[in-house]
Amino acid sequence: MSYWTNKVVFLTGASSGIGKGLAVEVGKQGAKLGLVARRAAELAELVNELETKGTQAIALPADVQDANALREAADQLRLRFGPIDILVANAGVGATSPSTVLQPDQVARVVNINLIGAANSVAAVLPEMVSRGSGHLVAISSLAAYRGLPKSAAYCGSKAGVSAFFESLRLDLRDKGVVVTIIHPGFIKTPLTAGRKATLPFLMELDDGVKKIVGAIEKGKKSYAFPWQLATVVRAGMIMPNFLYDWIASRNSYRE
Ligand SMILES: NC(=O)c1ccc[n+]([C@@H]2O[C@H](COP(=O)([O-])OP(=O)(O)OC[C@H]3O[C@@H](n4cnc5c(N)ncnc54)[C@H](OP(=O)(O)O)[C@@H]3O)[C@@H](O)[C@H]2O)c1
Repeated sequence: MSYWTNKVVFLTGASSGIGKGLAVEVGKQGAKLGLVARRAAELAELVNELETKGTQAIALPADVQDANALREAADQLRLRFGPIDILVANAGVGATSPSTVLQPDQVARVVNINLIGAANSVAAVLPEMVSRGSGHLVAISSLAAYRGLPKSAAYCGSKAGVSAFFESLRLDLRDKGVVVTIIHPGFIKTPLTAGRKATLPFLMELDDGVKKIVGAIEKGKKSYAFPWQLATVVRAGMIMPNFLYDWIASRNSYRE
């Protein structure tokens, strides 16, 4: 028996990249999956692929910005497979946002998908977890949550919000039987990082990233940052005085 055997998982952002990789990996280990994303055709294709491998899964096309749609999706998943054991709030978008030409619409879109979308996902599953006294909330945040990065105000702001949001949940849920895990990945090869001209340090293969995320969830880690090389650099950045951080960080843009 694996940690995932018969666990019902509500997974957002399942149509590509990390979400799709997680679906395949935890499905292989016996999880029953509710797959959320906007692109219904991609989800249907993934459900077919999973079913041929013996994984039980349903497609739940929805936009994470729509709290009602997510609640309905969670209801459908419960009807099909029973109470939801694990939420993986993974749906997200990247954005290059140079501050001198800031576009409020773009900032709002990134925050609405990355942060409000994750909050909507929690709202769709948490009341039932609390009443049952068991559950696991997982946020896919980013190493970009820890400090500001060049040309990344919208993304860093949204991910800092995600990490702080889930940390607050972790405190509130300590005695409620609900575990909270915040994942802070570095760079992983997915459509989100594809095509970037800037050098992405310690860029990981998708499979390696997925395995690390799955392991951290299984262990019920409160927070997990990887790969260790980049996580160490980021941690050093957190204790640097601002003048030194600004000098170093402004010379290392990961966005062109
Ligand atoms: N790749 C990296 O290096 C990296 C590093 C750190 C953190 N992350 C985080 O990991 C998560 C997954 O990213 P990825 O690299 O796998 O990117 P990706 O391949 O572009 O996947 C993003 C997923 O989010 C879904 N999504 C986007 N907007 C949505 C919306 N409004 N409603 C529902 N689903 C939505 C997309 O599906 P649809 O387009 O079909 O809706 C897609 O399934 C993101 O939160 C990202 O910030 C990635």
